[in-house]
This record gives sequence, structure tokens and C-alpha cells, in this order.
Amino acid sequence: MNALERFARVTTVAATRMPWLWPLLRSPMRLMFDRIAPQWDTNRSPARLTAFEAALATIADAPARVLDVGTGTGDVALAVAARWPEAEVLGFDLSQRMIDEARAKTPPELRDRVRFDTADARHLPVEDASFDLVAMNNMIPFAAELARVTADGGHLVAAFTRGAGTPIYVPFDRLRPDLERHGFEDVRELAADPGTAVVARRGPRVP
Ligand SMILES: C[S@@+](CC[C@H](N)C(=O)[O-])C[C@H]1O[C@@H](n2cnc3c(N)ncnc32)[C@H](O)[C@@H]1O
Repeated sequence: MNALERFARVTTVAATRMPWLWPLLRSPMRLMFDRIAPQWDTNRSPARLTAFEAALATIADAPARVLDVGTGTGDVALAVAARWPEAEVLGFDLSQRMIDEARAKTPPELRDRVRFDTADARHLPVEDASFDLVAMNNMIPFAAELARVTADGGHLVAAFTRGAGTPIYVPFDRLRPDLERHGFEDVRELAADPGTAVVARRGPRVP
């Protein structure tokens, strides 16, 4: 891993083990991704969404509302929109420059149902239970907030392009109990070379 990737890995470990540290980590993370946003799509592996797509293929019902958390330049949001032509998709990212790139590459015919905005995944500006599918690729999973915004019976997909070699990566044996503690059920991992993905279903909220 290069220095930026090592920084992303250390930040991921710190943010998932000690989420209260996130306010200190947020600015350096945003600055790093702002800086690399203009080059993000150059030289990217064609296999970057292999595990993510394999995870989507396990979801039987077409989601009406989809959230892509840590969307970067929007590849996950656009892939979801292509798979489910009726879905409304919202992509959030901490980095304004990533969002600018995502908006610029969204084809005009998708702009009425694929939208991008800045937001922090730790505190998303959306209502409880408002998405049938919450998706992320190579992004830090903040389990409590993911559970808050996913509709009962809705799905979470968290994919990691290079599995354990991905800089932003959380091992399944850490992620699973964290998701279960926050109300996800049927949490499972799949491998699709070169990546891995976790799929989970939001259990019913306890009144
Ligand atoms: C490794 S990139 C992945 C981007 C995209 N999902 C992809 O697969 O190409 C991680 C992205 O998550 C964003 N990010 C990191 N922490 C975030 C947070 N707390 N809230 C929103 N976005 C965040 C970064 O700005 C960056 O664009």
C-alpha cells in the first residue's frame, strides 16, 4: 500500500472501533479525497465493481429508493440505476470534488433519478427507514447510521474491491456483529474475485 492507502486503512480501523473519533478524522479524510478526485477514474481496474455486482445479483426485489454512501465519482449509483431502471438513486460523499465529478459524468437521461450531494455518512441528512437498498463500495460502514436509514426488510450491500487488500476494508468477523447489534439480520459474505461483499437485511424495528 502507498502512503494514502495506509492512511485510509488506519482511518477505517480507528473510525469503526472508535466512532466517537470520527469528528477528528473527517477533515483529513475529506482533504485527501478532494485532492485525488480529479484522477479517481483514471487507471481504475475494470474489476472494481465485480464483488458489488455479485452482491446486487442476490437481491431479488427491485428497490425503489437506493442510497450510495461514499459514492466517490458515482460508479455504484450509476451501476444501480442501470440494473434497476425504475430506481431513484441518491449518492452522498464527504468530498465536494468527488460529487462534482459524479455529477459531471451522469448522463443527461439519468439526471432526474440519479442525484449526488455532499453529506457525512455518520450523520446522513435523510429520514429514518427511507431506503430499500443502502449500498457502498470501499467505504467505512457506520453501522448505527446505516441501520437508521435502511427500511425494515431493506438491504445493505458493502463491497470491497480487493477484499482484505482494499485500503478501506472491515473484516467480516468485525462487521457482522456490529451490523447485527444495530438490527441487521441474515448477514452474509460472498467472494467474487478479486473482491468480497457483505449483504444484510434490515430487521423490523422494535417499537
Ligand atoms: C475509496 S473511495 C470509494 C468511492 C466509490 N464508492 C468507488 O467505489 O469508487 C471512498 C469515498 O468515501 C468518501 N467518504 C469517506 N468517508 C466518508 C463519510 N464519512 N461520509 C461520506 N463519504 C465519505 C470519500 O470521500 C471517498 O470518495
